[in-house]
Amino acid sequence: MGWLEVSGLSVGYGPVRALREVSLSVPAGAVVAVLGGNGAGKTTLLRAVSRTLGFHRGTATGTITFDGRPTDGLSPSRTVAAGVVQVPEGRQVFARMTVADNLRAGALLAKRADAARALARVHELFPVLADRARQRAGLLSGGEQQMLAMGRALMAGPRLLLLDEPSLGLAPLMAARIADTVREINAQGTSVLLVEQNAALALELASRAYVMEVGEVTLSGPADELAASDEVRRRYLGVVDETAAADAGRAQEAARTLGRWAP
Ligand SMILES: Nc1ncnc2c1ncn2[C@@H]1O[C@H](COP(=O)(O)OP(=O)(O)O)[C@@H](O)[C@H]1O
Ligand SMILES: [Mg+2]
Repeated sequence: MGWLEVSGLSVGYGPVRALREVSLSVPAGAVVAVLGGNGAGKTTLLRAVSRTLGFHRGTATGTITFDGRPTDGLSPSRTVAAGVVQVPEGRQVFARMTVADNLRAGALLAKRADAARALARVHELFPVLADRARQRAGLLSGGEQQMLAMGRALMAGPRLLLLDEPSLGLAPLMAARIADTVREINAQGTSVLLVEQNAALALELASRAYVMEVGEVTLSGPADELAASDEVRRRYLGVVDETAAADAGRAQEAARTLGRWAP
């Protein structure tokens, strides 16, 4: 039994079936990754866990338990209070508010003393957020906005952090920095459910991973085993299939030959 346990989860948005019988678990203290392309249902899974499907007119069946308790019936803010906090896809910082006010917004549900401690931790993890405290969040770079979105989530004192494609649109160096901080946040005792299209980065961070395709989990296992599997290497790690490459080479050769004969 996992600490977060998702079991037989199906989600629809009106007539659109987004998830079908998805089951997954996150052990306490772990980083678990969910890989999959656009539309696989990764964001929907996180919304179900954070109890925010209602904001998107989504409805779910199945069960989700966190720390031994079913979460159905919890409001989104109760879910945050229980320690489950989502960092949304595309950062979604409050662009016209200052960096400091964005962080303050993340602590709305926290006690004053806890908020002060959380702010010190966030500034230690992301010193740039202290340097830019009085700047508008919209003026930050993409990587800095990702840091702010993560910092804002940390202000609520999560026990389980839900990260939705934190590396999306970032240069490799910035993505690597974000990965380092995920590692550090986890080392400080926060568990992480990480959704990524960047399979290489996710498999490096996670101990266990799930692969999703069109709403279903198609593969799962220890991250190192998935990273070594042919299927994952070919489809998600961009490792070239030699047979396919040879076929492509032959096709090109044939096209050149035909081209020479063309009138
Ligand atoms: N609010 C919504 N209304 C209708 N369909 C949606 C909504 N959000 C997502 N979907 C659909 O659900 C499926 C899964 O989407 P999503 O969870 O965003 O996938 P991913 O995050 O893996 O790209 C897609 O087919 C998408 O079009
Ligand atoms: Mg998504």
